[in-house]
Amino acid sequence: MEFYEVIRTRHSVRRFSHRPVEEEKLQRILNAARLAPSARNAQEWRFIVVRDSGRRAALMEAARGQAHVAEAPLIITACAEHDGRTMTCGQLAYPVDVAIAVDHLTLAARAEGLGSCWICRFDERRAKEALNVPRGDQVRIVTLVPIGYPAAAAVPEKLRLPLESIVRSEHW
Ligand SMILES: Cc1cc2nc3c(=O)[nH]c(=O)nc-3n(C[C@H](O)[C@H](O)[C@H](O)COP(=O)(O)O)c2cc1C
Repeated sequence: MEFYEVIRTRHSVRRFSHRPVEEEKLQRILNAARLAPSARNAQEWRFIVVRDSGRRAALMEAARGQAHVAEAPLIITACAEHDGRTMTCGQLAYPVDVAIAVDHLTLAARAEGLGSCWICRFDERRAKEALNVPRGDQVRIVTLVPIGYPAAAAVPEKLRLPLESIVRSEHW
């Protein structure tokens, strides 16, 4: 799929078919995340691939019962193993770095004909328990990403602000 077509058609998928995701596709998607840029090339991202139905159900519970979390045949749990570093600009590095990697991942999924959905409405403590992630602050779960073949092919209309309202020229 052409690059801008991938960008234009990626959308949040909340209904999945039961068709399993091929291992080669999964590896290509994870590799797309691995190639993301990160501040100081720190690469704090760690990914847990969850296929087990019991663990998927536990993650769905942690995600306040969002059914699409468990419906997908696999969930990529994007974590950060980080040192809490703040960049010179004042922003924490790890959420920015992990978000870029996850964006690579969701776009790669789309290019492979797969659907995905960012999930941040979840209880981190419960999600950590489900996957034996260390409790301390050094490892955080940033987002859960259910991935699978979409149940429907239709691409919904993108609801986005027009460029004129988000882009300024030269100054605020
Ligand atoms: C950081 C982040 C957190 C999100 N959390 C959830 C979530 O918990 N559950 C959900 O169904 N969608 C979630 N979404 C999906 C957004 O609702 C969706 O991206 C947005 O409405 C734009 O729609 P689109 O992805 O179809 O273009 C999240 C998206 C992002 C980027």
